Parts: sequence; C-alpha cells; structure tokens
Amino acid sequence: MPKPSPVVPPHELERSSVVANNTMNRERGLTGVNSYTRELGFHPLEFLAGRPAPGWLDLCSGEGRALRQAAAELPATATLTGVDLVGPLAPTPAPPVLEEIIASVTSWAPTRTYDLVTCVHGLHYVGDQLGLLGRAASWLTPDGLLAAHFDPASIRRPDGSPAGRPALAALRAAGFHYSPRHHLLTLRGARTLTLPFRYTGADPTAGPNYTGQPAVASHYEH
Ligand SMILES: C[S@@+](CC[C@H](N)C(=O)[O-])C[C@H]1O[C@@H](n2cnc3c(N)ncnc32)[C@H](O)[C@@H]1O
Repeated sequence: MPKPSPVVPPHELERSSVVANNTMNRERGLTGVNSYTRELGFHPLEFLAGRPAPGWLDLCSGEGRALRQAAAELPATATLTGVDLVGPLAPTPAPPVLEEIIASVTSWAPTRTYDLVTCVHGLHYVGDQLGLLGRAASWLTPDGLLAAHFDPASIRRPDGSPAGRPALAALRAAGFHYSPRHHLLTLRGARTLTLPFRYTGADPTAGPNYTGQPAVASHYEH
C-alpha cells in the first residue's frame, strides 16, 4: 500500500523549501554547457528564425539569462516574456523586447500567443502540471512549439500511487510527443485540451526526481 502523502495548497507549495530552494539551477543561458539549447535539444533562435515578429514565452524562467541573451539577437519586433515566482535577482533593467513577470505560472495567463513556449525544468515545482500544460497549449500560435521537461513519475493518484502512464497516454492522445530519454514533452500547434484528470493537490515531500533535486508530486483523480 502506498503511504498517504501530505498535499498542500498552492500558496503553501510556493513557500515550501522544495520550491523556494535557492540552490536550484536558475541560470541556464541560451547556448553552452548550462543552457536551454542543451536541455531542449534545439536552439530556440533557430526555431524562431525567419519569423517577422517572433514571440517566446518562457515559464519558470529563473534568472531569465536565456531570454536576455536572445533579446540581444532578435529584431525589435520580437516579444519575449519570462514568468517566474522569483524572477531575476540581477537588478539590471530588461531590454525593451523582454518582459520579466514575477508571478506564479499556476495563475498567470498571457494576453497574446507565442511561437515558442518553454518550461525548462520548471514543471518539477508546479502543483497542477497537467493544468498548466493544458493552458499553455492554448497559448501557442497555430504552428507554435511548446517544449517542457516532464517527469511522469511525479503524476500520482490521491493515495500517492503512480498515475504517470495514464497521464502520458492522455497527453499523447492530445497531440503531445514525449521523449523519455530527454524527459521532454513537445506539442506543435495551438489546441484546446481537456485532459481527464482532476487536480487534488501537491506533495512537496515526494523527494528527488530524475534530476537528483527534490521535486513536487502532483495528485490527480482520473
Ligand atoms: C530549476 S529552476 C529553472 C529556471 C530556468 N528555467 C533555467 O533553466 O535556468 C525552476 C524555476 O521555477 C520557478 N518556479 C517554481 N514554481 C513556480 C511557479 N509556480 N510559478 C513560476 N515559477 C515557478 C522557480 O522560482 C525557479 O526559478
């Protein structure tokens, strides 16, 4: 029998030591060893190339280094948006094409669509991961790309037993592709999703995930 797991409400989750962990890697740049290109397996600017007014939304953007570096390379018509609970600690002003929003991705929503939506090692700390994926799918342009690191083992039933398989099956049926090797979910093109899962709470005591860092388990009725 799986042991019952303590689930906490969003405001408590966001203050928990797992989410407010200042040793997590929040400093990935655009390219190089510690980078978005390496983690995502593609260069975000190569994906955005040729678009007259490219839009890139980065959820759980950390220090926003990748966005800041991208801002220097993109035309003035670009829109880059980073959303993070904490935001950049550096007090340097953001370039004009970049909007740095301090908010929880669980309640924030954009007022436009984006060619690229990324969440690089951010879902591991979010309570309603499937809800966020569903909402983010609707924030894409018609040929936009959503790419997010995802650990199916973090999806559980209310009693703590695994629900990763049915969650992945539902995501695949909705059009997502999942690479287990890279722990990466991708979706091409905007859509409206209704996943057959009801969020019941998050467990910040779930322990380390595949990254080796303590992460959150998300509980759903299915
Ligand atoms: C491992 S860091 C990754 C940061 C960045 N994507 C990178 O790769 O450099 C995870 C980030 O998720 C943010 N985060 C966690 N829960 C969040 C939430 N509910 N809303 C917004 N940001 C959140 C944390 O503040 C942290 O900056």
